[in-house]
Amino acid sequence: MKIRKFEPKDRDSIVEIWYKASIIAHDFIPKEIWEAEKTTIRDQYLPLAETWVAEEEGKVIGFISLLDQYIGGLFVEPSQQGKGAGTQLIQRAQEEKGHLTVGVYSKNSAARGFYRKHGFRKTNEELQTETGEIVINKAWKQAGDSVKSGESKPAAIRALVIEDYDAVIELWQSTEGIGLSEADSRENIRRFLARNPYLSSVAEKDGEILGAVLCGHDSRRGYLHHLAVRSDRRLQGIGKRLVDISLENLKAEGIDKCHIFVFRENEKGVAFWAQNEWKARLDLTIMSKRT
Ligand SMILES: CC(C)(COP(=O)(O)OP(=O)(O)OC[C@H]1O[C@@H](n2cnc3c(N)ncnc32)[C@H](O)[C@@H]1OP(=O)(O)O)[C@@H](O)C(=O)NCCC(=O)NCCS
Repeated sequence: MKIRKFEPKDRDSIVEIWYKASIIAHDFIPKEIWEAEKTTIRDQYLPLAETWVAEEEGKVIGFISLLDQYIGGLFVEPSQQGKGAGTQLIQRAQEEKGHLTVGVYSKNSAARGFYRKHGFRKTNEELQTETGEIVINKAWKQAGDSVKSGESKPAAIRALVIEDYDAVIELWQSTEGIGLSEADSRENIRRFLARNPYLSSVAEKDGEILGAVLCGHDSRRGYLHHLAVRSDRRLQGIGKRLVDISLENLKAEGIDKCHIFVFRENEKGVAFWAQNEWKARLDLTIMSKRT
């Protein structure tokens, strides 16, 4: 797959991809609204925008269009989705711009997860008057933008994916206060991540995993498990960033309270949560039984 700059000959393919992908991703908006936009996209929007296309075997399969740092459109032909074109397009835009913003329909949870995975965070939300739909505005900024040259960049927080399993298990095994069991097998973690897409996070720097947390919910309440930061990287704000992002992710899923389980003898762990305003539930006792 090749990412290249838009050429005028791509115009018709782009409008078709935009239309086909829009009516599926935004099926809560009447098709006619998108149909009516086709000419505007082709003749007014595209000439103004900076666009890159993903091309496979000489055929355009997706594109990203930017108005300055705003992502006006990122669409992949529906039959070509899931092959990494969207990721390559967003990464190209991230390399070029260093800072990006986007508006995503609140009902488009796949796109919200995609942007979350690529480091975008919610800034605010607004009502789109033409459609009556809520749009969530998100922003991404290159890590370390504000860091003076010579200083090292902070760790990046990104979604934990199953490919991180070996590194993350090694971190947990070497961290005091983390209780691992057969529940943490690769297969179970794969299932956990599939049931809770893009909610768990790692802190990564120069290809090394410095921290991790599992985050999930059962549609009522959220749960964090196995928060850990590598011992030589503690007290640098990494644990707090992992927790803050997890709570943001849960909030975006409509979950308004999160629970954690901490071993009572893990005094430092308990102190961390207390310092960060988590309240011990003295009214509850955890009870368990094998199925
Ligand atoms: C708990 C842990 C994840 C914290 O990560 P960290 O990156 O060192 O923490 P941060 O730098 O983000 O700290 C955020 C805040 O908590 C405070 N804090 C961190 N560790 C603390 C501790 N042990 N006791 C009290 N406060 C603590 C920091 O001072 C900071 O406070 P501030 O915002 O007022 O400055 C890390 O110490 C760890 O991996 N511990 C072992 C595993 C563990 O116990 N995990 C919890 C299992 S439930």
